[in-house]
Amino acid sequence: MHIPRHLAVIMDGNGRWAETRCLPRIAGHRQGVRTVREIVQECQRLGVDYLTLYAFSSENWGRPDDEVSALMELLSIYLREQFDLMLEKRIRLRVIGEIERLPLPVRRVLEETVAKTDDHDGMVLTLALSYGARNEILRASRRLAARVAAGELSPDAIDEELFADSLDTNGMPDPDLLIRTSGEMRISNFLLWQIAYAEMVFTPVLWPDFGVEELHWALTEFTRRERRFGLTRDQVDRRSGEKGH
Ligand code: FPP
Repeated sequence: MHIPRHLAVIMDGNGRWAETRCLPRIAGHRQGVRTVREIVQECQRLGVDYLTLYAFSSENWGRPDDEVSALMELLSIYLREQFDLMLEKRIRLRVIGEIERLPLPVRRVLEETVAKTDDHDGMVLTLALSYGARNEILRASRRLAARVAAGELSPDAIDEELFADSLDTNGMPDPDLLIRTSGEMRISNFLLWQIAYAEMVFTPVLWPDFGVEELHWALTEFTRRERRFGLTRDQVDRRSGEKGH
């Protein structure tokens, strides 16, 4: 099985999982956290270098207040209870998105966990929180524009590399594989710049029902795909031959 260096996941279907069981939506999110625990452990075990999870979008602020606060609470609990695992497995936590919009207590736990795991050399676990890709691209553009306005940067010096370095994901390789659960075939404003060449795997399985078996299925699917990055098959074969030497 080919293991992606960077796996990104749109965790979808918690609400529907709960609704079909006549449970409150938050029960679906609670079950979704169990899946997060399982998938993080399995990705770490398999040797994924970067795992990025879409945990809360900029648009999710529009959900009912009690659902938003329950999600924030679940996030804080998750970070506290998983801290020992992060220490043991040397997992490094990163966050992307407009963190300043999160409630202060959640921000504190996040910032603390990010700081305490900063020197870890294991898998990088990135949580996208209050995240929207268009917003991320705008913030990066504003930062670069400010540097141009200050006379520090010439517009011609802005290339793909510098732009990528100005995004929240700076220093991370682009995702090789994007998985979305729950049967929706949309990107929903997730990592728009970064997924230019990512393979996409969509599964009808709802996130709370997604487990190690489904992850392996998605990785097998990924392994079957041929990634050419716009080149011909011959060129790709020659390049991988060269890398092998
Ligand atoms: C999508 O399901 C899921 C979310 C909006 C939140 C994802 C959050 C978690 C899995 C729990 C907290 C996260 C971590 C990292 C501990 P939905 O509610 O949109 O489902 P629906 O489309 O069926 O309504």
